[in-house]
Amino acid sequence: MQELDSKIIDETKQGEALAPFVNDPNIYQKHFYIESYGCAMNFSDSEIVASILNKEGIGATNIMEEADLIFLNTCSIREKAEQTVRKRLTEFRKEKKNRPGLLIGVLGCMAERLKTKLLEEEKLVDLVIGPDAYRSLPQLIAEAETGQKAVNVLLSRDETYSDISPIRLSSNGVSAFISIMRGCNNMCSFCVVPFTRGRERSRDARSIVAEAEDLFSRGFKEVTLLGQNVDSYNWINEETNEEITFAKLMEKVALVSPKLRVRFSTSHPKDITDDVLYTIAKYHNICNYIHLPIQSGSTRVLQLMNRTYTREWYLAKVDRIRQIIPDCGISSDVISGFCTETEEDHQDTITAMEYSKYDLSYMYFYSERPGTLAEKRYEDDIPLEVKKRRLQEIVDVQYRLSKESNERDLGKTYEVLIEGNSKKNENDWMSRTSHNKVIIFPKGNHGFQKGDYATLKVISCNKATLIGELVN
Ligand code: SAM
Ligand code: SF4
Ligand code: F3S
Repeated sequence: MQELDSKIIDETKQGEALAPFVNDPNIYQKHFYIESYGCAMNFSDSEIVASILNKEGIGATNIMEEADLIFLNTCSIREKAEQTVRKRLTEFRKEKKNRPGLLIGVLGCMAERLKTKLLEEEKLVDLVIGPDAYRSLPQLIAEAETGQKAVNVLLSRDETYSDISPIRLSSNGVSAFISIMRGCNNMCSFCVVPFTRGRERSRDARSIVAEAEDLFSRGFKEVTLLGQNVDSYNWINEETNEEITFAKLMEKVALVSPKLRVRFSTSHPKDITDDVLYTIAKYHNICNYIHLPIQSGSTRVLQLMNRTYTREWYLAKVDRIRQIIPDCGISSDVISGFCTETEEDHQDTITAMEYSKYDLSYMYFYSERPGTLAEKRYEDDIPLEVKKRRLQEIVDVQYRLSKESNERDLGKTYEVLIEGNSKKNENDWMSRTSHNKVIIFPKGNHGFQKGDYATLKVISCNKATLIGELVN
């Protein structure tokens, strides 16, 4: 979501040891170490877990050898994501053999999917906790400490953790995630998420706005509203009977301050309304960027995927976005080699990408997931080498589209938010435009700080990054 470079994003590589902060033995007697895999929702959940554990006197550490508890917050979206977690668990097992008191817990979507099987398969796992059960962590840790195997994988219809203030684990101090809803009611036939995350539910809008206000008061300048399908956010204030749609919620968050940028992820194309588009267009601080996953450009395949839109309907939605928000960045998710996909279907995907002129795409080959509708109904009949060849063709198209998109920005002027040092050169700033492109520019003697806004003119580019110079 944060990269400009279009490439195959493998969620399993996004795993990160989080916890660059407080490690004071006077505050915390015990420490946990957590690695998060998968989507932004999982990273955001790890921050909720950190908050729950802090209240119990358990502080975060980024040194695994120092931890009394090791957690893996896992992802099940593709087979490879699960393989990576299993490999990591094997490494943790070695650590546990050296330190018998150490507890190892599996959190997140793989915990939910495999439940107690995980305890049987991975003998040295002590805790298995699904995404809706994090409040029971203290009790489960206590049970595990007495040598029992502790499991809670109950899914909830109303848990949103709305009262929990997340501890920002690996934050740059400028941008933060705010989870606005949980679960998913769509039944895309390839997708495991409805089974691992349960029914969709929207968080109390007042707590979302309060979280945004708190972040802004602490110097944050950008929030990303998170959900699997943010456009179906719907919450009713029972005191006033006011219905808060996603458009209204965005507006409320945008009104926290014109200096607070608002982003969101992810949109299901079927639910993104004109109301949402006009709200984005109305507020300068709601970023002109929409992640609009197409998955396939073939109407026949889209039907099998149960995406509920056709190719034509999707492309008309892209037109509508460009009409209402002229300078809008659009990105996508694409799957190659779904069941029965022909070369013609594959070409339909390529032409739909070209029509949509995506700035960026996350591209995958289809990975059959146990229990999904596709696994039950259709044969996974496209050979792996065909899936991979088609994926490579899709990646090549996106590389070209990203390069062309960057070339279109040459000579244009943008307001950017400075996120921190450039990774390649600490004499340069890394900043981001509203339409989600990274612009690198020299620090010089301008006295900017991370979190400041600047106005830049794009003077050159490569396929991944724009280079800018300051405009007086
Ligand atoms: N809720 C979002 C949506 O509707 O687009 C994102 C869902 S998922 C976390 C992110 C992406 O993973 C999907 O958009 C899809 O492209 C991909 N994905 C999901 N299941 C997959 C599977 N079985 N094989 C390959 N890719 C998959
Ligand atoms: Fe999965 Fe579809 Fe829900 Fe996205 S909208 S999480 S792809 S079921
Ligand atoms: Fe993975 Fe679960 Fe997210 S399956 S992509 S971590 S919702």
